[in-house]
Amino acid sequence: MTGFSSPGEVADALKSVDYLPDDRISQVVFLAERLDKPVLVEGPAGVGKTELAKALAQIHGRRLIRLQCYEGLDESKALYEWNYRKQLLRLQADEGADWAEVEDDIFSESFLLERPLLEALRSPEPVVLLIDEVDRVEIETEALLLEVLADFQASIPELGTVQAVTRPLVVLTSNNTRDLSDALKRRCLFLHIGYPEADREREILLTRVPELPEQLASQIAGVVRHIRDQPIRKAPSVSESIDWARTLLALGIEEVDEGVTTETLHVLLKYQADIDKVAAELGT
Ligand SMILES: Nc1ncnc2c1ncn2[C@@H]1O[C@H](COP(=O)(O)OP(=O)(O)O)[C@@H](O)[C@H]1O
Ligand SMILES: [Mg+2]
Repeated sequence: MTGFSSPGEVADALKSVDYLPDDRISQVVFLAERLDKPVLVEGPAGVGKTELAKALAQIHGRRLIRLQCYEGLDESKALYEWNYRKQLLRLQADEGADWAEVEDDIFSESFLLERPLLEALRSPEPVVLLIDEVDRVEIETEALLLEVLADFQASIPELGTVQAVTRPLVVLTSNNTRDLSDALKRRCLFLHIGYPEADREREILLTRVPELPEQLASQIAGVVRHIRDQPIRKAPSVSESIDWARTLLALGIEEVDEGVTTETLHVLLKYQADIDKVAAELGT
């Protein structure tokens, strides 16, 4: 790895690929690389958790391997699976052949289907491994991830233990829909990403929507910040403020006021009750 000598250097590198970190993000990334530990990034949707892993891959010139988690994810989709179809064809073709020989053959490399975890372990080039939305898998499936994270190895009964060829940089993300196991948390450096301060959000907007006038970016950041303070069900995230910026540009709006905000609240908010509440608060 390039080896950053300070959190400030991490910040500069992230900015160079259009990711605007706060001090905490840069510090934890710096430490994760120094201590060779996975980072567990937790926070609401749309605050730049997944994007951070992508940005890290970019600044290191590494390939990003992503394991998207979901309920029901199991070993066969996370680690490896045998190519049953191919095995079956081989068995049919070899009817009457020596069974031991066939068995050795069909449980060999060319019948193996690599899934993201195995792919990351066996990659000859170091990669960034993103285990995205890990809170969606059942707690039992975490055990599988743990083996990989603890020892950077995995066991495949037919092939033996696979040891990591190179050390991946690992980022796990969680939207906090359930508590993760202590064992998993213990392996990782913890990073909470919340909604950005108005200044950072303004910078993010200007980076992601380059045509946006600075004045409008400041106004958007201010209004979004204000809306987040309301007692609503789903606060607008950075993704929504970017959508809102694009919306205002598309409509040719140069100045944000209560009227404009009310007319376009559906871009920021995802529940009608929230829209009604904020519209009432804006007094329109
Ligand atoms: N710090 C940031 N710098 C630049 N863009 C950001 C930042 N945070 C969020 N974004 C933008 O917000 C979008 C949503 O971020 P994403 O990583 O998908 O959110 P999540 O936290 O749900 O994984 C990204 O596509 C990116 O454009
Ligand atoms: Mg994400």
